[in-house]
Amino acid sequence: MTSDLRVSLPGLELKNPIMPASGCFGFGQEYGRYYDLNLLGAIIIKAATKEPRLGNATPRVAETPSGMLNAIGLQNPGIEAIMAEKLPWLAECYPDLPIIANVADNTEADYVAVCERISQAPNVHAIELNISCPNVAHGGLEFGTSPEAAATLTKACVAVSQVPVYVKLSPNVTDIRPIAKAVEAAGAAGFSLINTLVGMRIDPKTRQPILANQTGGLSGPAIKPVAIRLVHQVRSISNLPIIGMGGVATAGDALELMAAGANAVAVGTANFSEPFACPNIIKALPDELAKYDLHDFKTFAVNQEVL
Ligand SMILES: Cc1cc2nc3c(=O)[nH]c(=O)nc-3n(C[C@H](O)[C@H](O)[C@H](O)COP(=O)(O)O)c2cc1C
Repeated sequence: MTSDLRVSLPGLELKNPIMPASGCFGFGQEYGRYYDLNLLGAIIIKAATKEPRLGNATPRVAETPSGMLNAIGLQNPGIEAIMAEKLPWLAECYPDLPIIANVADNTEADYVAVCERISQAPNVHAIELNISCPNVAHGGLEFGTSPEAAATLTKACVAVSQVPVYVKLSPNVTDIRPIAKAVEAAGAAGFSLINTLVGMRIDPKTRQPILANQTGGLSGPAIKPVAIRLVHQVRSISNLPIIGMGGVATAGDALELMAAGANAVAVGTANFSEPFACPNIIKALPDELAKYDLHDFKTFAVNQEVL
């Protein structure tokens, strides 16, 4: 029996629920040399900011057991270059591939300007509003840790965006639920969960932090249980769609997040150790579903009702 992997979310008709996570796939150009990106459900592209950014000083990545720390600092060529070069390249090579644009910045005015501009690109089907970057001095977590600030920013971005806005929340909070509720009330179409957890490593020889930024975001298999917990917590208070992520490396991991309440799944760090991580997961999903006598995601939806 063939499986139906399709998933339908606001703005996104996905042939399968698997997509690369922002910052772990660039704009698709490098990975496109290795496999047909049309296999993917969608792509979440690297963060866009109003001005181009070189990111933080190096070293800005460090390995950890079962994961990595990064403090890239939102390096990107800026909204104008993304509009002029990256999105047209994706539209030309992959006209049917849904693109989710990740938006970040320092101030509300800049977030709004980037949302307005990028949502006009014909191949941008949704925005992932990144209010959870732990690696920048201004913006990011400043908006993502307070329900009021998160709601104000969401409302302003939703007002100017031509496409649904999914808000990417931070795991670096005591209770994610009031923030999720505030963001939902402010007009978010859905959630993206989770960004990285703030971590740090020290070189015992120098007794100095390994990352030039001192702290970085922890990602990879180590954070999967945290992601499962937070997806489950947000699902318990909201029916909005959730794009779940955090440590997904196998089809089993993806289904675990979906059982917790995610409607689609993004794969981040796994792309670095296994460039074929996304297509491998997509290929394995039918067999993984069949283990539970399932051939589509409809019955997973049972677990996604508000508890
Ligand atoms: C090197 C690197 C760069 C990232 N850049 C971004 C980014 O630009 N915007 C964003 O919202 N998240 C960014 N993230 C976070 C990922 O999108 C994802 O939320 C997180 O890594 C958890 O998923 P994972 O454990 O599968 O990597 C980045 C993560 C890594 C490892």
